[in-house]
Amino acid sequence: MQVSFNPYSNNCYHRQPAFKSNENEFLNAAGKVVNKTVTYMFRNDIEWEPFTRFLSYKYRTAPKINITNYACSDGSEPLTLAMSVMEFTPEIAPKIFPIIAKDKYQHVLDFAQSGIFNIYAPDLYAINYFTKNKFNHYFQAVPASIPDCMMGVKPREPLQNKIIFKQADILEDLRNLPDENNVILCRNFWTYLNKEQHHPLAEMLYEKTKNNGLIAIGSLENGHGIPKILLQHGFRETGVHNVYEPVKKMTV
Ligand SMILES: C[S@@+](CC[C@H](N)C(=O)[O-])C[C@H]1O[C@@H](n2cnc3c(N)ncnc32)[C@H](O)[C@@H]1O
Repeated sequence: MQVSFNPYSNNCYHRQPAFKSNENEFLNAAGKVVNKTVTYMFRNDIEWEPFTRFLSYKYRTAPKINITNYACSDGSEPLTLAMSVMEFTPEIAPKIFPIIAKDKYQHVLDFAQSGIFNIYAPDLYAINYFTKNKFNHYFQAVPASIPDCMMGVKPREPLQNKIIFKQADILEDLRNLPDENNVILCRNFWTYLNKEQHHPLAEMLYEKTKNNGLIAIGSLENGHGIPKILLQHGFRETGVHNVYEPVKKMTV
C-alpha cells in the first residue's frame, strides 16, 4: 500500500526539526528556556501555496514586495518561501527577491551563511512534496555539517542570491524597514521575548505594515495569546492561516 505524505497532518507537525544542534536551546540562570532555534522546511503552520498566491494578488500593482523574515534561524524558512514563490507564483519573483532574512544571533546565522543547510528525512519529503519532486533542481546533497543529521544540502543556482542573511534583533530593526509594502515574517519566537515586549512589538509591526503590509506569525504565537494582542493593535486575520493585515485605526 502506498502511504501518501500529507504536509498538513498532525503527524507531520511533530516531526523532527531540521535544525537541532547542541546549541539550539538557551537557558537563563533560573533554567528557563530563553531561546530555541528549531525550524524546518515548509513548516506547516503556514499554508505556503495559499500564502504566496495571496501575496501575488495583494501586490499585483505594487512595484516591489519588501519581504523581511525575522527570526530566520538556519534559513529553512526563507528557503521555503523562495521555493514557494518559484513553484506557485513565479510571476512575483522579480519583485520579491532578494528576501531579507534576519536573526538576532550571529552564531545561529553562521549556519545559514555557511551555505550548507542540514536536513532530516521529513524536510526532504516536504521539499519534494511541495516542489513536485524537484529536490535536485534546488539542492545538491553534501555531507551534513552537524552530527546526527541526515544530510547537508547546498542550494543550486535557482536559489542562489535569492536570500540575504543579516544579523538583527527585530525590536531594534523594524524602524529601518521601508514605509510601505512590507511583508514581515515574525514566526515562532515571540515567547522568547519578555511578555512586556509583546504590545510594543505589535504596535511597531502595525506602524510598519499600515501602508499595504502584512505579517505572518506561527503556531507558537497562536498558543500564547499573540493573535489577541495583534487584534488589539489594529490587525485582522486574512483568509490565510496565521497571516494578518492592518486595518485603518479609527480616529475619534
Ligand atoms: C524557534 S526559531 C523559529 C525559526 C523560524 N522563524 C520558524 O518559524 O521556523 C526562533 C528563532 O528566533 C530567533 N530570535 C529570538 N529572538 C529574536 C529577536 N528578538 N529578533 C530576531 N530573532 C530572534 C532565535 O535566534 C531563533 O533562531
